[in-house]
Amino acid sequence: MSKEIVVSGIRSTGYLHLGNYFGAIQNYVLMQENYECYFFVADYHALTTHPDPKELKSNVFRVAAENIASGLDPNKVALFAQSDIPEIPELYLMLNMLAYKGELEKVPTFKEKVRNHTDNVNAGLLTYPVLMAADILVHRAAKVPVGKDQEQHLEMARNFAERFNNRYGDFFPEPQVFRFNNDAVKIMSLDGNGKMSKSENVNATIFLSDDDNTIRKKIMKAKTDAGPTEHNSEMPDYIQNLFLLMQLTSRPEVTESFKNSFNTCTVRYGDMKKQLAEDMVAFLRPIREKAAELQKDEDALRRILKEGADRGRASSSKTIAGARKLMGMNYY
Ligand code: TYM
Repeated sequence: MSKEIVVSGIRSTGYLHLGNYFGAIQNYVLMQENYECYFFVADYHALTTHPDPKELKSNVFRVAAENIASGLDPNKVALFAQSDIPEIPELYLMLNMLAYKGELEKVPTFKEKVRNHTDNVNAGLLTYPVLMAADILVHRAAKVPVGKDQEQHLEMARNFAERFNNRYGDFFPEPQVFRFNNDAVKIMSLDGNGKMSKSENVNATIFLSDDDNTIRKKIMKAKTDAGPTEHNSEMPDYIQNLFLLMQLTSRPEVTESFKNSFNTCTVRYGDMKKQLAEDMVAFLRPIREKAAELQKDEDALRRILKEGADRGRASSSKTIAGARKLMGMNYY
């Protein structure tokens, strides 16, 4: 039986952080065993913010290296750069004819960009979800492992697939969000302001490339408060976030014991953060070291990306041929 198809991507706009790791990459690594996987570095999406051409290549190579260091096996998955698959912009163009200005303008991530970057509201930003739909549909994927922040984009991909199917005939599956434990993991910034991200407060974001002392410093500065005064109080979201990180990196009995002390109003956040910092250091060190090692061998990374692109193109050229035929563009 053929395996279900999985697609996901990460923008090459900076260093990968715990949100990317726990929200996405961890699922990729689990999925590679049982699915036909296409994972890519979204360098076209990164162009919306006009990155320096001198830095783009090293960013793409670093994101690829960090994925592999996190456990992705390029023999099991196709790992490639988005811009190496010309079928993606081809499908993007086709889907753009089925996407409407009104619906694109309503997308919260677009509205946020318009508010915060008034000087660069380009058409690529507006059609960002269409390009993302093309990334997914070009392999006719069934499952897409992403963090909570991408769910709305995925819903749009389903809409575009459905619209294509209604107009031209049943062709695209409607891709679904996938996570192994079903819970959407959302890692918050350590200052308590919104989600952890590549571009917001870097001192409140833990990057996979941070050294031991930087990790310790950032965790010790994480937002806390004077602690609960009533037994079994509800946790503020920034405290919940520390417990989540602990649950993801510490031994279960350690997390349990701090939870008990929270519930009985005896929690000492200083001790909790010290423990979390040490567990995080131990968790990230092997990933950081392996990523650094991989980045030293540019030839090997180039080979991996090239092979991944070959596999990505084999899959996407079939889709484009099928779509063209349905659309009446099969002239020869
Ligand atoms: P990007 O590069 O912002 O993030 C990559 C992945 O990391 C997840 N993520 C988080 N998860 C939990 N908590 C956080 N704080 C957090 N921050 C980021 C994201 O949900 C995502 O899964 N548009 C996409 C890239 C993309 C894509 C695609 C993804 C382009 N085409 C096709 C899937 C399929 C993006 O900007 O992700």
